[in-house]
Amino acid sequence: MLIALGVTGGVGAYKAVEVARGLQKRGHDVIAVMTATATRFVGPLTFEAITRRRVITDQFEPGANADIEHIALASTIDLLLVAPATANILAKFANGIADDFLSTLFIATRAPVLVAPSMNTQMFSHEAVRRNLETLAARGVRFVEPGEGYLACGWIGKGRLAEPEEVVAAAEAVLRPEGPLRGRRVLVTAGPTFEDVDPVRYVGNRSSGRMGFAIAAEALRRGADVTLVAGPTTLEAPAVRELVRVRSAREMRDAVIGRADAMDVAILAAAVADYAPAERAAQKMPKGDDTITLVLKKTPDILGELGTRRLSSGRGPLLVGFAAETEDLVARASAKREKKHADLIVANDVSRVDAGFDVDTNAVTVIGPEGAQALPLQTKARVASAILDRVESLLSARPAKAGS
Ligand code: PMT
Repeated sequence: MLIALGVTGGVGAYKAVEVARGLQKRGHDVIAVMTATATRFVGPLTFEAITRRRVITDQFEPGANADIEHIALASTIDLLLVAPATANILAKFANGIADDFLSTLFIATRAPVLVAPSMNTQMFSHEAVRRNLETLAARGVRFVEPGEGYLACGWIGKGRLAEPEEVVAAAEAVLRPEGPLRGRRVLVTAGPTFEDVDPVRYVGNRSSGRMGFAIAAEALRRGADVTLVAGPTTLEAPAVRELVRVRSAREMRDAVIGRADAMDVAILAAAVADYAPAERAAQKMPKGDDTITLVLKKTPDILGELGTRRLSSGRGPLLVGFAAETEDLVARASAKREKKHADLIVANDVSRVDAGFDVDTNAVTVIGPEGAQALPLQTKARVASAILDRVESLLSARPAKAGS
């Protein structure tokens, strides 16, 4: 979702950087709108680097009004979040004063507005500020309560900007009060596995983790309680409830099997090594002969094990596997679905340069009980969304796990 993050001139402005990061980690797109005084506390460049978007600082800078930007932005954002909000901006919002970009955006947008006030204790309790807060609350503006503690001015009391995690959680609650996957536990695997040959070498693959991370982020967006089991990747993971970092297929297997019974859904997007070195050398293997032979043995088949367990016990999560193929895509993927007893299998033609490993886009065919659905080339975020649509419709017949 697109969030306009309004930053006003308070000491807590530095915390807004963490708020922007937290929102991004939950899969949101953030555009920072800074007032002139905010730029005296934190440089716009910091927000530009974090959000990877131009920071709006001045309503009257050349170009800013070419497409009447505050109106365009006002109609596209899903949330206007202001953190920190000074007494000054609250007064402008409450009284309809529109003399800069942020105050104009507030009046122009019909998106929900969430405000995190931050000011000195005496100011916060002043009659004028209280009245402005009440006026705004009556108009549907929501607030993140300021925290208590030491304020920059030396006072102790209420007025400090709430901690970034609280602000992010409040934004999430406004954005998805009732996600369709609320109450569902979803486990996602992502990334490659590395199978060590010796202390410096390993057998691995080109998976970046993007596909699995996109699924975890989308499940989060839909309100699920997400556990992400990730192989070694350099990407920043979405802010799931539980992130389990693993290295090898064996570690991934243990992490998944140990949690599977508590899950409603398991989506295995990781590219797990099928074979690993039979033995890991304790010391770095010295260079010797012109050729060497590496003996590999089969790794545990995690999806296969989940499928077999469910078949024998009659219990277990809804299973979604992926199939990375370079030929006979649908036939091979369908055979994997049957062999591993998965509900859905996502057939991925990894011979394409614009799909599969280490790119932002994917083109897949989702194969399930009611047939195959081809999804054309699109972002992995959109592919994730289509997969979760299928998951949701299969889940509708199953009660949520107790306690989730
Ligand atoms: O990470 P990205 O760069 O975004 O790339 C995404 C992807 C190409 C890795 C992803 O879209 C994908 O296709 N993942 C599955 C890769 C794979 O291992 O496919 P497979 O056909 O070998 O395995 C079939 C299924 O069994 C997969 O769900 C896999 O996670 C699972 N498996 C495989 C081997 C094993 N030992 N245990 C398993 O559970």
